[in-house]
This record gives sequence, structure tokens and C-alpha cells, in this order.
Amino acid sequence: MGDFNSMLDFPPAPKLDAMSNLIPSKSTEQELLGERLFKGKAKCASCHYGPAFVDDYLHDLKVERFYKGRPEGPIKTFPLRGIKDSPPYFHDGRLPTLDDTVEFFNLILELQLNKKEKDALTAYMMCL
Ligand code: HEC
Repeated sequence: MGDFNSMLDFPPAPKLDAMSNLIPSKSTEQELLGERLFKGKAKCASCHYGPAFVDDYLHDLKVERFYKGRPEGPIKTFPLRGIKDSPPYFHDGRLPTLDDTVEFFNLILELQLNKKEKDALTAYMMCL
């Protein structure tokens, strides 16, 4: 059964504990900062939470605020477990790297993250 489950499961994430929190002794300061931001200032965990870092909803991110053209409307949140292994990102693959996804949400959610905070969020997502 364990072998079978491991075929279906996400790839290993050795830095996460049973509650999907980073294990501090296995993590860097930068990764821990990223986790704090993810759950706090950067608001990521309001849509990406639980064992797969996903909710079960559609969200209208209202991207048309930033260009002239047709709105995209609601899109389902994607899980972030194992996310480093599946570029490019978003439903249409428009974002090649995890850094790009951080920059995208920095704009959309008007977070005003600095370079150190953005890099920490990327480092954190590399652990998931
Ligand atoms: C309001 C809900 C919401 C918040 C807040 C949010 N996300 Fe997302 N996230 C989404 C949705 C919806 C998508 C899918 C968007 C698309 O495909 O157009 C997504 C997609 C992603 C993806 C790409 C997943 C893939 O498989 O392609 C990453 C990475 C990501 N989010 C990271 C973050 C980070 C980092 C933050 C915080 C800075 C964040 N998200 C905040 C809803 C949210």
C-alpha cells in the first residue's frame, strides 16, 4: 500500500513536517522568511493552503486592471506542492519561472515586496 501510495503522491518534500510547515532545523533563514511572508504579508496562504497548498475555488484575479482587453474571469487555484518541478506556470504557461509568479502576485495583490522578500518566497516554494 505504501508503495502504491508513493506512485500517486506528490514528490518528496523533506523539509516539510506532517502539518506542511517547514522544519526549522532543516531550513535556511531565507526559506523560513519565505514561509512567514507566504502566510502573512504576501497573502499567498489565503488561496494556497492545506497539504497540497490549494483551496477548492475559482478566483477572478482581475488582471484586466493592468491591460486593455478582455477580462480573463475566474480561474481555479493550482496546488503548489511539488511546484518547482512543473514549469511553465499558470493555466496558459505564461510565466516561465517561480520568480515570475512572485512578481505577478506582487503586482496583482499590490504587495510592494522588496527584492529580499521576493527571493525568500521563491526559495520557500522550492521546498514545497
Ligand atoms: C486570490 C487567490 C490567490 C492568492 C492570494 C494567490 N494565488 Fe497563486 N494562484 C491563484 C490562482 C487562481 C492561480 C491560477 C492562475 C492562472 O492560471 O491564471 C494561481 C497560480 C499560482 C502559481 C502557478 C501554479 C501552476 O501550477 O502553474 C503559483 C506558483 C502561485 N499561484 C503562487 C502564489 C504566491 C507565491 C502567492 C503569494 C504571493 C499567491 N500565489 C497568491 C490564486 C491565488
